[in-house]
Amino acid sequence: MRTRRSALTLIAGAASLALTLTACGQSSEGGSKESSGSAKGGTIGIAMPTKSSERWIADGKNVVKDLEAKGYKTKLVYGEDDPDQQVSQIENLITQGVKGLIVAAIDNKSLNNVLQQAADAKIPVIAYDRLILGTKNVDYYASFDNTKVGELQASYIVDKLGLKNGKGPFNIELFAGSNDDNNTKYFFNGAMSVLQPYIDSKKLVVKSGQTKLTQVTTLRWDGATAQKRMEDILTSTYSSAKVDAVLSPYDGISIGILAALKSDGYGSSSKPLPVITGQDAELASVKSIIAGEQTQTVYKDTRKLADVAANMVDDVLNGKKPETNDTKTYDNGTKVVPAYLLQPVSVDKTNYTKELVDTGYYTAAELK
Ligand code: GAL
Repeated sequence: MRTRRSALTLIAGAASLALTLTACGQSSEGGSKESSGSAKGGTIGIAMPTKSSERWIADGKNVVKDLEAKGYKTKLVYGEDDPDQQVSQIENLITQGVKGLIVAAIDNKSLNNVLQQAADAKIPVIAYDRLILGTKNVDYYASFDNTKVGELQASYIVDKLGLKNGKGPFNIELFAGSNDDNNTKYFFNGAMSVLQPYIDSKKLVVKSGQTKLTQVTTLRWDGATAQKRMEDILTSTYSSAKVDAVLSPYDGISIGILAALKSDGYGSSSKPLPVITGQDAELASVKSIIAGEQTQTVYKDTRKLADVAANMVDDVLNGKKPETNDTKTYDNGTKVVPAYLLQPVSVDKTNYTKELVDTGYYTAAELK
């Protein structure tokens, strides 16, 4: 952690702040990928992975709002799922003299060089939701309990199928997230810790035989990639059998899986849709849950995550030690990164009102 900033950095920061003041003015969602807050204080650079998913748009907005409320300016950039673009965006932020960086990595191993540049400029770095690997130059990690996310998804399947009551055997297929996202293995391992005993006892059968993480990942969490894989599995394996459950790590992937299932005739009373999990409580998926298609999602309140990250960067810049609640789990290969982990919540048709509407995450009208 860096609590003292060199005079040189401050001068460089002031110079680039002037530059920022002239360069900024676009809205935080602007296509120019820049945003500026009002207020005193320096600029914080926020690098988000993609606008193709609602959650990251909400994350970006919430972090900007929180930092502006604390008196910072912000520069928010989206890397459109291109690791090289994210690296050059972060380089630009450093050149522009940001005082701190909040980064949700696209490829967790591609940022080592650029984060060395940040360290050389005494810019603290907060890893946002996704841990950055292989570098000492990441100060704190703000995320959710990622193992718990997978456990919630898998426990939901176990409960819904009645496996604890001895029901089965059932057919299940497994999907995981992007192999360059550190969260992927936490989600998958969390889920498999719950599912494996049933797979071992043959109460759950992965008919495709694809059970290893390397066989089930979905590059960049892409729904179309998942759809194609599900179509291939249905064609190769399920001509006469039915799939009863699909472990999906993320709502965008669940949408792709559902499309494959529906075009294979699932969704009727004679061929009901399987239990399908998800993550992020994205609007389209919550609507799908209400409509009885996707079965479950894992809600992670991005407002709280943004708060944690904004507080972390603010504390570091003010020489305070940010609050953490996990200093053991997140080893990035170079160091254990002190983390604050929030709690994810399983959401389905029975509790979406309580969790998502009563908490103000969505309005009832948005879910119509
Ligand atoms: C992960 C994140 C998930 C989901 C996924 C795809 O890193 O933890 O909540 O958003 O990326 O965007």
